[in-house]
Amino acid sequence: MGTLKIAIVGAGAISGAHLKALSTVDEIEVVAIADIDPTRAEKRAAEFGIPHTYVDYKEMIDKEDIESVSVLTWNQAHAAPSIYALEAGKHVLVEKPMAATLADAVAMTKAAKKSDKLLMVGLKARYGDDRIVAQTIADSGVLGDIYYGESGGFGRLGLPGGSFITKETAGIGVVGDWGVYSLDATLCLMHHPKPVAVSGMSNNYLGKDYKPIFGAHHHGGDFSPDKLSVEDFGAAWVRFDTGAVVMFKAAWISHLSGGGSPFLLGTHAGMKLHPLTIFRWEFGMLTDTQPMNYKETEPIEQFRRENVAFAKAIAEGLPSPIPAEQLLLTNVIMQGLVDSAAVGHEIEVSVPEI
Ligand SMILES: NC(=O)c1ccc[n+]([C@@H]2O[C@H](COP(=O)([O-])OP(=O)(O)OC[C@H]3O[C@@H](n4cnc5c(N)ncnc54)[C@H](O)[C@@H]3O)[C@@H](O)[C@H]2O)c1
Repeated sequence: MGTLKIAIVGAGAISGAHLKALSTVDEIEVVAIADIDPTRAEKRAAEFGIPHTYVDYKEMIDKEDIESVSVLTWNQAHAAPSIYALEAGKHVLVEKPMAATLADAVAMTKAAKKSDKLLMVGLKARYGDDRIVAQTIADSGVLGDIYYGESGGFGRLGLPGGSFITKETAGIGVVGDWGVYSLDATLCLMHHPKPVAVSGMSNNYLGKDYKPIFGAHHHGGDFSPDKLSVEDFGAAWVRFDTGAVVMFKAAWISHLSGGGSPFLLGTHAGMKLHPLTIFRWEFGMLTDTQPMNYKETEPIEQFRRENVAFAKAIAEGLPSPIPAEQLLLTNVIMQGLVDSAAVGHEIEVSVPEI
C-alpha cells in the first residue's frame, strides 16, 4: 500500500485523537490542516509536524497535493467541506454523526455518489472488538428474525460543553452525539432495515436547570445552562419496514444510574450488548452464552483501525468501509425524532432516493 496524503479540516479536540492514532500509521501522511481559528491549526501542526496550515479549507483543498480530506469539524460544518472535497475529486472521512440534519446527510451522500469517491463516516466504535464479535454473532443468523430492540442509554451526569451544546455548531444534542453510536450498532446488527415511522420526544429540562455538581464530568469545554440550545434527552419509538420496532433513547444527563444495556430480541435468540450475552433455548434448557476471549479496544486503537481501513479501501479500490448510505438511516431516524417531537405524535419517515 502506498502513502495516502490527507488534509484535515477542523483542529479541535477530536483532531488530537486522529493525529495521535495517525502518528503510528505509516501509510497515511498528513500534509495540511485548516481551522477557522488559526491558533488551533498551528497548535496541531506544531504538535504533530504538519507542514501547512490554513484558515480556509477551500484554499487548502485547491492548493495541496492530496487524495483525501478528513472532516473533523463540529456537526453543522460537516456537509460543506465534505461536499467541496468530493467535488474536487478527493475521498472524504467525516466524523460522526454524518450530519446534524437529514438534508445535509442527503446532500453529502448524493455528492459522494456523483463524485465516485469514497465517503466514509468515522464511527470508531465499529472497530472495537466488542462490536466485531457482536456483529459476527448477528451475521451468523443465530438470532432469527429480529422483531424488537432497545438502543442507547442514559448518562447520569455527562453534559459536554463547547461546540456540543449549541444549535449553531452541533445542530443536534445527545441524540447525534452518544445516540448515533448505539443507533448505528443496532442498525448494523439488524442488517439495516429501513425506518418507516418515528414517534419521538426530546427536552433539556435537566441541562437548563443544571447547577454545579461535585465531580461533574464535562467533555468539550465548560458547560453553561445559558449556552445550551440542543436536547440533552431524546427518545423515539422507531418502526421498520420489516415490522420490527426499536426503542431508541439517549441522555447526557438523567436522574437514573445506568439506563440499561442495548438489546435485540429475535425469533431464535436474544442478544444483550453489555455484557455481550446470547439468550437461547438449547439442549432443552435456557442458556446464556458470553463470548470470553476478547478485550475492550482502546479508543486510539479504534481510530487507528478506522483510518487504516479508509486508506486500504482507497488503495485497493474497495467500497467505503462505513458507507454514507448506511449512516443515512441514522439521519432519517434522528430527523424523525426531531420532527415528531415538534408535532407531538408519530410521523411517517422514508429513506430519500440518492
Ligand atoms: N469519534 C469520536 O469519538 C468523537 C468524539 C468527539 C467528537 N467527535 C465528533 O467530531 C466532531 C468535532 O468534535 P470536537 O470535539 O473536535 O469539536 P471542537 O469544537 O473541539 O472542534 C471543532 C473544530 O472545528 C473548527 N471548525 C468549525 N467550522 C470550521 C470550518 N468551516 N473550517 C475549518 N474549521 C472549522 C472549529 O474552529 C473547531 O476548532 C464532531 O462532529 C463530533 O461529533 C467524535
